Amino acid sequence: MIQLKMEMPVKLVVVAGARPNFMKVAPLFAALAGDTDFVPILVHTGQHYDYAMSGQFFDDLGLPAPAYHLEAGSGSHAQQTGEILKRIEPVLIAEQPAAVIVVGDVNSTVAAALAASKLGICVIHIEAGLRSFDRTMPEEINRLATDAITDLYLVTEASGRRNLLREGVDPAKIHMVGNLMIDSLRSHLSQALASDARHRLIQHEKYGMVTLHRPANVDNPVQLAEILSALAEIAKEVPLYWPMHPRTRSKLTSGAGLPENIHVLEPLGYLDFLCLQAGSAVVLTDSGGIQEETTVLGVPCLTLRDNTERPSTVECGTNRLAGTSRDSILAAWADSKHNDRPASIPEYWDGSAGQRVRSVLRSTFVSQA
Ligand code: UD1
Repeated sequence: MIQLKMEMPVKLVVVAGARPNFMKVAPLFAALAGDTDFVPILVHTGQHYDYAMSGQFFDDLGLPAPAYHLEAGSGSHAQQTGEILKRIEPVLIAEQPAAVIVVGDVNSTVAAALAASKLGICVIHIEAGLRSFDRTMPEEINRLATDAITDLYLVTEASGRRNLLREGVDPAKIHMVGNLMIDSLRSHLSQALASDARHRLIQHEKYGMVTLHRPANVDNPVQLAEILSALAEIAKEVPLYWPMHPRTRSKLTSGAGLPENIHVLEPLGYLDFLCLQAGSAVVLTDSGGIQEETTVLGVPCLTLRDNTERPSTVECGTNRLAGTSRDSILAAWADSKHNDRPASIPEYWDGSAGQRVRSVLRSTFVSQA
């Protein structure tokens, strides 16, 4: 256990920038809300900026307005990462926090961790240790680079600890805290289910959901056509609804070319998507977080990738790795219809991850859990 003696209250900069970050930092703010020993300062990098990709999540999750908005915006990986790195450094110099907390694996995560580390500020990585072992994924590079300079590793599932130990990380720096994203799910599910989202957005009793945004799937037209051809077959059996990420939309010039029975929606807010996901017969996705959410909701998930950095969702959850070819996706679809697997929920995905993070922070910075 690292122990840092601190001036009280302890200032923590918490960094979020892209859509999947917001549901991870919200429970952390909730857990720290009543703890006067900490002053959490939210920095929004601006990696995502449209209301549908960012502001909507602040509203749905009840997140406080960011203390700093860096407005870094889109760009190539180098441009975006460099812009965040440049813009966050003066904030860290001005605030002199005891630690910078980063979540997940997006460009904002690695940029903020690097800026903090070079200033000698403790880096805490939430969702540390996840590995897809696929270095063609930009997120895998972000995970590896962030964990190489992290001081305190907070892990969501057993594989995270295993990977870090294999990479030589000191076990005293690793803490299993569970899954903050699942805290958000559990605390918002009844509100989401009580909403009118299903009635407003879905015209069928039985339906499936699609989400797709990985560059490897959507940037290459041949690959995208392969996936669309599988979706077209599945949509003959169950209508599919597809809230479309801006990256994907920019690759499909218009919805007119999509197969029948695939219904394109605008990107959805947190509550709307949670409601639709919970009522869905199947979810086809290349997202990381949705593999976790479907596992907890007990909804069959076909992951349109060859690997996952979240193996617990396959080992004990509802997730199947479906690959990205028409044949492999249709084979996984057939399997999911005929083999109902008894699914369970990984340890500590129980809605109390925020409190476990707080407890680790107290034992590290306040020296009383
Ligand atoms: C990013 C993350 C990915 C995460 C995903 C969730 C990295 C490397 N990638 O991918 O891990 O799963 O977010 O959505 O950090 N755009 C808008 N409005 C926005 C934001 C983006 O229109 O608010 C468009 C821009 O054209 C942009 C493109 O979407 O160029 C891609 O955005 P970017 O943040 O670069 O990557 P994502 O694909 O969203």
